[in-house]
Amino acid sequence: MSKPEILLAGAYPEWDMVDLEAKYVVHKLYEAADRDAFVREIGGNIRAIATRGELGASAELMTSLPKLEVVSVYGVGTDAVNLAHARENGIRVTNTPDVLSDDVADLAIGLLLSAARLIPRGDAIVRSGQWGKAAMPLVTRVSGKRVGVVGMGRIGQAIARRAAGFDCDIRYFSRNAHTQVSYQYEPDLLKLADWTEFLIVIVPGGDATKNIINTEVLKALGPDGILVNVSRGSTVDEEALIGALQTRTIKAAGLDVFHNEPNIDERFFALDNAVLQPHHGSGTVETRKAMGQLVRDNLAAHFAGQPLPTPVV
Ligand code: 8YV
Repeated sequence: MSKPEILLAGAYPEWDMVDLEAKYVVHKLYEAADRDAFVREIGGNIRAIATRGELGASAELMTSLPKLEVVSVYGVGTDAVNLAHARENGIRVTNTPDVLSDDVADLAIGLLLSAARLIPRGDAIVRSGQWGKAAMPLVTRVSGKRVGVVGMGRIGQAIARRAAGFDCDIRYFSRNAHTQVSYQYEPDLLKLADWTEFLIVIVPGGDATKNIINTEVLKALGPDGILVNVSRGSTVDEEALIGALQTRTIKAAGLDVFHNEPNIDERFFALDNAVLQPHHGSGTVETRKAMGQLVRDNLAAHFAGQPLPTPVV
């Protein structure tokens, strides 16, 4: 039987490619100089898209693949996949939940510690030979502080468990209270921001959460407050955030996600109160191997006519 043809929307690690290329005819969209021409040429044979969280799959792309059956996302977030289009057209969608929760939560805490303890500044002072010459400012304690978690899904819970290990007092905002956690639910985001010292954002991206961290929330967080975002750039009004960091309306931010990645707003580069990461929350060898395995397991199950391990649609 001939191998199914799949479209790879973005690069995957070598260990995934070996297996993918053994089982499928893999067409690499990201290597095409003219993507439209490439899709016109091979689109008629494509039965699956393997994509990444931030790349997703638009309705336009899916429409140009008339034999498309499944979209397998290397990531938990499906906000960049047009799910409504997939549903209407009987296209299945899968993602990679759970396997990345611990790593994203680890980075959230890492960004909080980096922003509060000014770890990048200390590093720069030491490696530039300025130790003893440039003053390392006294920094902000993390242990025992108030932490507000925006989103109490799997990753939010992993963040809260870690913050509890730092003896922090934890409250959370989400659409609904989560009965399986004992942290205090705060249905009013402004009240949570006002109460907390550190606000950590981990809600799914998409229209429902667009710019939920806005000027008012940042004002409520206040000049001693630190914002951490490991969700999607879209959840934060970036104009408001840059303004708040420039004017010290908030103290600092630790950010793994941005609008328009990877070509982010260059005003971030000048901010000494922001710690920046290149969307790498799930970027450990261990987790990326597990994510790749899950993408491949979902594709294999689909083509074998078996139940999908982690379906979204
Ligand atoms: C990945 C992500 O960085 O899980 C998600 O939704 O955005 C991340 O884990 C991404 O999918 C890898 O390209």
